[in-house]
Amino acid sequence: MANVVVLGTQWGDEGKGKIVDLLAPAFDVIARYQGGHNAGHTVCVGGRKIVLHLIPSGILHPGKLCLIGNGVAFSPPAFLKEVAALEEYGVAVGDRLVISRGVHLILPYHPLVEKIAEERKGARKIGTTSLGIGPSYEDKVARCGIRAGDLLDLEVFREKLITNLAEKNALFRSAGFPAVDWEEVYAEFAGHASRISQYIGDVSLLLHQKMREGKSVLFEGAQGALLDVDHGTYPFVTSSNSTAGGVATGLGIGPTRIDEVLGVAKAYTTRVGGGPFPTETQDERGRLISERGNEFGATTGRPRRCGWFDTLAVAYSCRVNGIERIVLTKPDILDVFEEIPVCVGYKYKGSTLSTFPAESWILDKVAPRYKMMKGWKSPTHHLTERGRLPAAFIDYVKFIEDSVEARVCIVSTGVERKDSVLIEEELEGVVDLGRVRKDLS
Ligand code: GDP
Ligand code: IMO
Ligand code: MG
Repeated sequence: MANVVVLGTQWGDEGKGKIVDLLAPAFDVIARYQGGHNAGHTVCVGGRKIVLHLIPSGILHPGKLCLIGNGVAFSPPAFLKEVAALEEYGVAVGDRLVISRGVHLILPYHPLVEKIAEERKGARKIGTTSLGIGPSYEDKVARCGIRAGDLLDLEVFREKLITNLAEKNALFRSAGFPAVDWEEVYAEFAGHASRISQYIGDVSLLLHQKMREGKSVLFEGAQGALLDVDHGTYPFVTSSNSTAGGVATGLGIGPTRIDEVLGVAKAYTTRVGGGPFPTETQDERGRLISERGNEFGATTGRPRRCGWFDTLAVAYSCRVNGIERIVLTKPDILDVFEEIPVCVGYKYKGSTLSTFPAESWILDKVAPRYKMMKGWKSPTHHLTERGRLPAAFIDYVKFIEDSVEARVCIVSTGVERKDSVLIEEELEGVVDLGRVRKDLS
């Protein structure tokens, strides 16, 4: 298998965790390139569920090497908690995980910086995960951030911490919060350093060596393209490049190393937090999607806003990521609907837009135009065979394919690995669903 990026084409939570876990056996290395523990990637195996936040979802497969690239915002306590959760689940991380020296640390006071910024925005707040992701990236771009490599020499870490915190304390005092004591942070992080230094390494070099040996890499995206800091619905975005461009900068590889970008799209749309969402549906049908899809954040538990599939948004994602193949997830949630609206255009100031405007102030004012698709009204849940997909569902898939100019290669029909339909025959050599079923029995 070549080197493939798996990323979300909407506003996150498309089911990336399930798909990465499904495809991981076909790869040697699984690497995260951006985001942090704001991500929540759910994997269900044999009725047991685990949510991965920072560690690549490939970790559940024995023998796979997992990497956390320099583009990730890294919280040592969140990482250590996740290692412990995996151990409890029965998965040993051991020496299968390497964290780049270049990851920027999330420090214990970053969530307070975020809280102050969010409160100052009032009604226009972003609705972040409150985990300090944005402030860590702000420090990176402001060139005052602290990286995992700095923990390898505690003198260096101490000096950087004192400088970084002096600035933050000025902000905290002005906002009426007590100053943070650098010695407390230092003591906490010196403890973390002793536990994580064994994982810190040169991820770019390691990837280069693995690729030279002919090993294949799956690049696991977090969030979704519409939350990308450059191409998303700015300012209602996260603070990293979740699009395919982030893979090269976030891991220290050349873009020539990427063979394909596979987009994951939900058969409808969800969004957590603030910002425009043209196809949001707050009526009974929206509530039904939310309930059937159990649409609550895997990281914060917040209800996800629900709406219809937006072909403009996904076509845009395919364009900015170079996506030609899509994995369509959660169609089973729509199994009960008589009719399913699909957004095919936006009305804006008397004219019709046929391409996605990423400006949130335009998106705020658009009215979606829908094509009504016939519902399939029969269960797709747990289906595994192409031939058993309902005809009306195939029409739905074809309409999406034509509208977004990408082929659907896998349909996910449930939370488990085995709940998957391989649409393209050639994938049968890559994803061994027969083996997945046998492994579980
Ligand atoms: P991610 O952030 O993209 O990995 O997605 P999340 O894990 O946050 O949310 C996706 C949710 O949908 C999880 O609870 C998955 O277990 C679940 N899921 C994934 N694919 C399917 C599917 O095809 N059908 C159903 N019913 N659930 C799915
Ligand atoms: P996965 O990888 C859905 C959203 C937050 C908020 C915005 C900015 O599970 O798909 P941040 O804390 O990143 O500064 O918040 O981004 N957000 C996500 N929404 N899925 C995610 O990750 C998200 N990660 C961040 O809700 O609107
Ligand atoms: Mg998620």
